[in-house]
Amino acid sequence: MVTRALDVVLLGPPGAGKGTQAKCLAAALSLLHISTGDLLREEVAKNSPLGQEAASFMQRGELVPDDLVAKMLLARLYTQQGLAGCVFDGYPRTQAQAELLDQLLAELGRRVDVAVYLEVPDGEVVARLGGRRSCPNCGAVYHVQTKPPAREGLCDVCGSGLVVREDDREEVIRQRLSVYRSHTEPLLELYEKRGVLRRVDGLGAVDAIFARLKEAVKGSVAR
Ligand code: AP5
Repeated sequence: MVTRALDVVLLGPPGAGKGTQAKCLAAALSLLHISTGDLLREEVAKNSPLGQEAASFMQRGELVPDDLVAKMLLARLYTQQGLAGCVFDGYPRTQAQAELLDQLLAELGRRVDVAVYLEVPDGEVVARLGGRRSCPNCGAVYHVQTKPPAREGLCDVCGSGLVVREDDREEVIRQRLSVYRSHTEPLLELYEKRGVLRRVDGLGAVDAIFARLKEAVKGSVAR
């Protein structure tokens, strides 16, 4: 039985299925799902000062500056002290963010217990993101081929009209992939050296990937 918090980082290229799997893992292990992408999109939708600043970076497929993302992360992390831990989805994305996460977790007496790398080739990423449809109201995510909504164009959960994310255009996807390679992929080495990196094949059915993910996380906790 796990008696301390469990903190899991999900790594992988855009469209690897981090959000899809993070929601499943958080629900299965009663962890808080923290997606910095979702938090940023909420700020953009509210047209808050932070959202206004972040929007142009996101539309271009660039990273939002670390200090802006850190403010949001802090607010979210400190709302849930005492819970079982977090699944970090889309954070960290840079060396500086990885250092900040270590520092914040250490202040709570915690650490990154396991970093899971969802391995998905670029061709699959483009296919997944090209067909993604998102609910701007409740955040549910669909795919026109692999996970279509029951009624075309409408969210199964709340009935809102589904949209194509602005950064899911092909040229922006290419840019996001390039930013991922240069800034985020090097974190694999960091977590590998620490002995907490687990590689999970991100191809196949969502349930099959989730079974592999759970095994990887449970195996790490049992160490
Ligand atoms: P963010 O929203 O985090 O985007 P991302 O990392 O590029 O990841 P995605 O959300 O695109 O994909 P995913 O891996 O979650 O895949 P999903 O499960 O949706 O960030 C967006 C932007 O915000 C960034 O570009 C940046 O500007 C900014 N940002 C965010 N965090 C930041 C940070 N820390 N620092 C600085 N800037 C930051 O799946 C994709 C599609 O595939 C869906 O349609 C899904 O239904 C489908 N699918 C999922 N699994 C499968 C499967 N097994 N088979 C077939 N289809 C599948």
